Amino acid sequence: IGMPRAQWASRLGFILAAAGSAVGLGNIWKFPYITGNNGGGAFVLVYLGCIAIVGLPIMMAELMIGRHTQRDAVGAFVQLEGKRSFWLSAGWVSVIAAFIICSYYSVVAGWTLDYVYRALIGSFSGEPAEAIESMFGTLIADGPRQLIWQAIFLLLCLGIVIGGVQKGIERWSKILMPILFLLLGLLFINGMLSKGAWEGFAFMFRPDFSKLSAGSVLEALGHSFFTLSLGMAAMITYGSYLNKTEDLLAASLRVVILDTLIALMAGLAIFSVVFSVGMEPAAGPGLVFKTIPVVFSQIPGGALLAIVFFLLLAFAALTSNISLLEAQVAYFIDERGWSRKKATVFLAGLAFVVGIPTALSYNTLADWEVIGERNFFDSADLIASNYLLPIAGLLIALYVGWFWSGSKEKEELVAGGSGWVYPTWHFLIRYVSPLAVAVVLYFKAKESGLFTWLGGWF
Ligand code: PHE
Ligand code: NA
Repeated sequence: IGMPRAQWASRLGFILAAAGSAVGLGNIWKFPYITGNNGGGAFVLVYLGCIAIVGLPIMMAELMIGRHTQRDAVGAFVQLEGKRSFWLSAGWVSVIAAFIICSYYSVVAGWTLDYVYRALIGSFSGEPAEAIESMFGTLIADGPRQLIWQAIFLLLCLGIVIGGVQKGIERWSKILMPILFLLLGLLFINGMLSKGAWEGFAFMFRPDFSKLSAGSVLEALGHSFFTLSLGMAAMITYGSYLNKTEDLLAASLRVVILDTLIALMAGLAIFSVVFSVGMEPAAGPGLVFKTIPVVFSQIPGGALLAIVFFLLLAFAALTSNISLLEAQVAYFIDERGWSRKKATVFLAGLAFVVGIPTALSYNTLADWEVIGERNFFDSADLIASNYLLPIAGLLIALYVGWFWSGSKEKEELVAGGSGWVYPTWHFLIRYVSPLAVAVVLYFKAKESGLFTWLGGWF
């Protein structure tokens, strides 16, 4: 109050910050292995479709809501519809999702720091494969060690977010993102020059429709939310610092294209080297924390490549997690009148405390392999990415498509873009996106046994 609201200093700053949020562990670790598991090229096609007809329109909707209201995700709906509106739920679900994801994301980010450290001191060099693979088990069974890395990671996030929009997030995105592109570029070139390059291409792009199931489509859609940081208040918040003259379609397109390119490049970089030493790509955390260090211990220049790879993961996690922290910080600043400093310290501390059970939830390596039984980590991820994000996304699409009347943004889309932009976007956000998300939610709920549990009413 009184102070002018923070804004990005430049368009490039915004694009890099938003791309920093989008490009994360989801691109470099999760996308490659879910692609491999779901039939390669066939899955990539489905995924690209989901990004285009659901991800992009919802990203535009979130940026619009943020820019129009200049508030945090909850405040945005208060401003649009008043304090008692049902639509506040869209803001609340988003902020709660940000909170949950922030807590476990920072645990995994802590692992990446631990691996940066190991790579730097040369732990992987000259070790037999079993010894390297067992390092991951040792780490996740070691509570204090994980908590120290998690704390260091959150302190880094805190240090950036406390600096504010321009001097913290934007400035650091402008430093970290170019380095991230450079690191990935190095790994990509290395992969393309390795003898597993063709096999890597085939694994990622050769369509195997027999592996493509209804479950794959659900996975593709769910991942398109996670990877674009949708449904978790991050894009609403980043949009709220956006200049009124910015072309939203162009900005969203740049972020979406960057995110997608980086995911594809990461997949090629990873699988090419994995195949070059004749290994099988593992699924899940095993891919980056077990297979990759083994691969790098066996190829020339691998000691350096391991440092590059884990730094890449750590930077990607850092720029993503600051957006999660900022989304919550903005709520406390805008709605509760807290200072940025107080909000940031409080929320980073809270993320640490809530992350504790996650960090302690694995006692042995075998826990990862127990299928069907969920520990704290998996439950948090399941609730947040399978339910909260799609629910928030659905509410946002419904709100913007059907209930948000008289928005200047819509006029801007018509005026700024060429004639087809607004009608196309409106059609997608009104019909296609909500329907697709609703179908996904229905099947997920069904698969989880929710309906049987509710007494078979459906
Ligand atoms: N989009 C990030 C990724 O792909 C994850 C993320 C989730 C970022 C939530 C911000 C908020 O890994
Ligand atoms: Na992403």
